[in-house]
Amino acid sequence: MAKRSVLDLYRMKQSGEKACWITAYDAPTASLAEQAGIDMLLVGDSVGMCVYGHGGTNQMTMPIMLAHTAAVRRAAPDTFVIGDMPFLSYQVSPQEAVRNAGAFIQEAGADAIKLEGGRRVTRQIRAISDAGIVVFGHIGLTPQSSGQLGGFKAQGLTVDSARAMIADAEAVQEAGAMFLLVEAVAPEVTRIIRQRLSIPVYGIGAGPHTDGELLIVSDLLGLFEAFKPKFVKRYAELARIMKDAFTAYRKDVKDGFFPGPEHVYNMKPDELEKLRAELAQ
Ligand code: KIV
Repeated sequence: MAKRSVLDLYRMKQSGEKACWITAYDAPTASLAEQAGIDMLLVGDSVGMCVYGHGGTNQMTMPIMLAHTAAVRRAAPDTFVIGDMPFLSYQVSPQEAVRNAGAFIQEAGADAIKLEGGRRVTRQIRAISDAGIVVFGHIGLTPQSSGQLGGFKAQGLTVDSARAMIADAEAVQEAGAMFLLVEAVAPEVTRIIRQRLSIPVYGIGAGPHTDGELLIVSDLLGLFEAFKPKFVKRYAELARIMKDAFTAYRKDVKDGFFPGPEHVYNMKPDELEKLRAELAQ
């Protein structure tokens, strides 16, 4: 597979082929996703919930996000990798936003960055795109501001909220974002947004009228057990498989079946003989 670029993603939109992306936080997952032909990998700050055990995403920092992004990049050299800008890495000023977005590209090898928010972050989107960096906007349920939203709640369900989503989407495109991600928004609102915008519009929990779909890898694999959003489809039950494996391992150890003869490193017989003779003196 040749390395994916923004041109491939735009061609896919034109031809009606949906892009398929997942989040990835580590090298083994990224490598398997690339082998499976996944188009894009988002190194999401959802790593805070899926890997670090936080109740939200706002504890993630630039050093943490850069380390995970670099791991994903090393393991998936041909996949389009998006670094997710963590809380307070872009909100404070457009200058800080450019520096931190640049670090995802320069230090971690990302192809693009994503940041949350609509009209209130257009100065940041403009500054980052003016620096030549590909920006993914992200509107709807934006986890970094879930406190203001009253929790992880679907958006665009009332006329006012739908109007706000549409205005945010237009502002993000106008500011220079090359892609938009819409999260947990009513399908009709996503459809209107996609009709009004020329850039690819992707969804996570935003219905079928999109240019591509994103799922959080831990949801897709059935690894995240704290809760299951309505929009998630599980393609595996890894939590169950892992628990069964841990239980079987524990039982083998307790019952003396592990390690078996096939799991040990044997000395050469003559070396063993020599050792025995030496110790017998
Ligand atoms: O961090 C993340 O995985 C995200 C998705 C929820 C869109 O931002």
